[in-house]
Amino acid sequence: MRITGTGHASMRIDTSAGSILCDPWVNPAYFASWFPFPDNSQLDWETLGDVDYLYVSHLHRDHFDAQHLKQFISKKATVLLPEYPTSQLEDELRELGFTKFFKTVSNQVHELDGGLKIMIQALTSPTDGPIGDSSLWVEHDGVRVLNQNDARPTDLTTFAELGHVHAHMLQFSGAIWYPMVYELPEGAKTAFGKQKRDRQFDRTWRYIDDLKADHVFPIAGPPCFLDDTLWQFNDIFGDEGNIFPDQSVFLSEYAKVGGTNGIVLLPGSVTELSEKAATTEHPTDVDEYFKNKKQHLEEMRDRKAPIIAAEKASWRHPEIDVLGELKKRIEPLLEESIYMANGVGGPVRFDLTDSDGPDGEVVESIVVDFPGKQVRPYADEKVRYRFKTGRALIEHLIHIDEGDWVNSLFLSCRFSAARIGQYNEFVYAFFKCLSEERLQYAEGWYDEHERAVEAEDTQLGDWTVQRRCPHLKADLSRFGIVDGNVLTCQLHGWKFDLPTGKCLTSVGHKIRADKTGS
Ligand code: FES
Repeated sequence: MRITGTGHASMRIDTSAGSILCDPWVNPAYFASWFPFPDNSQLDWETLGDVDYLYVSHLHRDHFDAQHLKQFISKKATVLLPEYPTSQLEDELRELGFTKFFKTVSNQVHELDGGLKIMIQALTSPTDGPIGDSSLWVEHDGVRVLNQNDARPTDLTTFAELGHVHAHMLQFSGAIWYPMVYELPEGAKTAFGKQKRDRQFDRTWRYIDDLKADHVFPIAGPPCFLDDTLWQFNDIFGDEGNIFPDQSVFLSEYAKVGGTNGIVLLPGSVTELSEKAATTEHPTDVDEYFKNKKQHLEEMRDRKAPIIAAEKASWRHPEIDVLGELKKRIEPLLEESIYMANGVGGPVRFDLTDSDGPDGEVVESIVVDFPGKQVRPYADEKVRYRFKTGRALIEHLIHIDEGDWVNSLFLSCRFSAARIGQYNEFVYAFFKCLSEERLQYAEGWYDEHERAVEAEDTQLGDWTVQRRCPHLKADLSRFGIVDGNVLTCQLHGWKFDLPTGKCLTSVGHKIRADKTGS
C-alpha cells in the first residue's frame, strides 16, 4: 500500500485494487483565514485527482474544498459516502459533478472491487463537525490503515476489532477559535491555551494507545493564517498558549511519552507500507523544513496575498438589511427550537463593525433573543454571549445563504467574543443549524439523548458515577479521571463537580455521582 501526503488531512491511498483520495484541500477556507501548511498548491493535482475513489470525511471547508474538487478531481471517481442523517454532503458533491456514490453503512465493512475493504464510521451528533464527521478504515492485502482524521469517536474499539492496524492517521493540533478570540487578559488566555494544547496532546496519546498501530501519522492540521490580522495565530512566536502546534512539535512531544513510531508527511511525501515496515521518501528534508517554518510562512503570505485580497473584495454587500434578513431567517428557527433555545437561555448579541473583523467602529448591534424568540436591535441589556465581527462578514453569510456559521464565520476567527458564565455548546450548535433541515435534525438528536436514561454506573476511585459522559457519551471507565472531588473526562476535557454533579465546563450536562459507601 502506498500513502502519499497531499497536505493537511488529505492523502492518497494507492493499492493494486484501486486508489482513494481523501479530503483534498488547497484553497483557503473560512473567509480566507485558513490555508493548508505546508503549501500543497504546487502538487500535480491533475494526476493526484485521477483516482478510483474519493472520500470526503465531512463538510468542514478544510476537508471539503468545492473549487478544488470541481477543478481537479476526476468525476469518474466513486464517492465513498459516510452514512449521515442529512443528504447535504451528497447534494453538494452532486452539484460539483460527481455522479457515482457508494453509500456506506456506518461501522460496516464493505468489500469493493479487487478485494479492497473499507469501513467508514460516521459520527452524527450536533457537536460532531458540521453535524457529522467520519473516519475511514482501509484494508488491502493484509495491510490496514485507519484515517481517523479529526473525528472524535468515544473509542476505537470498532476499528481495533478488525485486526491489527499498521498505520493510524489522526489529528493532534487545534482547529477552533478558543481561547484566542475571547476578550480575556493575556495571562488568562495563555493559561487557557496551554491547558487546551496539553489536552489535545493527551487525547491524541489516548487514541494512539487505544489502537497501538505500527505507525502514527499526525495529520489534519494545523492550518496556517496568512492574513496580517490573523498572523499571530501561527505557532512561531514561542507562545506556550498557542493551540496550533505543528507536526515537528508533535514528534518531540510524542517522544516525551515514549512515542518512536511517528511519521510526518509533507505534501508529496510517499510512504510504502507493508505488514512489516514503512519506508518514507520526502520531497525535502523534514527537520530543515520545520526549522525554517517562519520563512516558509512569510513566503507563502506573499504568494497568497492576492487571493486574500480578492476574497475580501467579495464580502461586502452594504445594501443588505442585516437586521431584517436575520429576523426573516432566524425567527422561524427560534420558534421551532426547544432544546437549543432553552440551552442558550439568554440573549446573544452581535456587534457589527465597519472593518473585516472585530476591530473598527461598531455600526450596528443586534440581539438574537432566545427566550423571547426574536431578532431585534440591542436594547442595552445583559447578554449571555457577545460576538463582535465585521458587518461585511454577516452580509456575505446572508448573501450566500449560509446555514452553518460555525463552518464559516466562527472558524474564520475573524471575531472576538465575551461571555457571562460558562461555555455554552448550544450557542454554537444553534448557529450551525440555520436551516430547517439542520435544526430539525439537531433538535431531534437532543430530544433522543436527553430522554435516554443512563442506567449503567462505573467506579472511579471513591465515586460511583454514571458510566457515560454527559457530554458526548465517552466511556468514563476509560476516559474519566478523578482528582479530589472533580472528575475530568479526557475526551474533550470537560470537568464535573462530583458532590453536586454540576458540570464545570458547560451549562447543563449534570452527572450522576455518589460517594461509594455513603
Ligand atoms: S465526551 Fe466530551 S468531555 Fe466527555
